[in-house]
Amino acid sequence: MPLPRKASESHTIMTEMVLPNDTNTLNNLMGGRLLHWMDICAAITAQKHAHRTVVTASVDNVSFAEPIKLGNIVTFEAQVTRAFTSSMEVHIKVSAQNLSAGEKAIHTNAAFYTFVAVDQSGRPIEVAPVITETEEEKELFHSALRRRQLRLVLAGRMKPSEATELKALFGE
Ligand SMILES: CC(C)(COP(=O)(O)OP(=O)(O)OC[C@H]1O[C@@H](n2cnc3c(N)ncnc32)[C@H](O)[C@@H]1OP(=O)(O)O)[C@@H](O)C(=O)NCCC(=O)NCCS
Repeated sequence: MPLPRKASESHTIMTEMVLPNDTNTLNNLMGGRLLHWMDICAAITAQKHAHRTVVTASVDNVSFAEPIKLGNIVTFEAQVTRAFTSSMEVHIKVSAQNLSAGEKAIHTNAAFYTFVAVDQSGRPIEVAPVITETEEEKELFHSALRRRQLRLVLAGRMKPSEATELKALFGE
């Protein structure tokens, strides 16, 4: 098994500017473009941890509560929360800022991505465990097991009866 690696070593910040080709007719950033940028930032984060090629296995639900406007600066901040055998969960937060108006950045989106490290033939390969240091890292590490079980149940890869952490959450 690869040697454990600190969660903070995967920390990634990526910045983009919303240009006309990224928007809909209301001059708002299109959801698909946002997901594309989030995927790139999260993939870089997972690669920093795995030191391997990674593929996106799943994306948990993303809500679009706040429109991001043409000309805004969009910042993506991501970190690996936990590694299992070949898969890693990445937490990504998005904020947007109208720099020319001197406004503060506002939080717009967040999501959990799952990446799987693969070899040259695309077969899953083992990744390093994650070492947590801060309270936030420890909380995200702990809750990652629950989120993994939920996504595997929804993907039809785990029986609900095997999702012990999830069942415990509902007091069963
Ligand atoms: C992801 C992929 C490598 C998994 O391969 P597989 O043959 O199903 O491998 P396994 O069943 O051994 O699963 C490997 C890991 O993937 C995880 N995984 C598989 N499907 C998953 C899903 N839907 N959500 C979360 N994790 C998933 C498994 O839990 C396992 O994790 P672990 O090793 O940490 O326990 C394979 O399905 C694949 O290549 N998918 C396409 C990836 C891709 O092209 N992404 C871009 C899409 S646009």
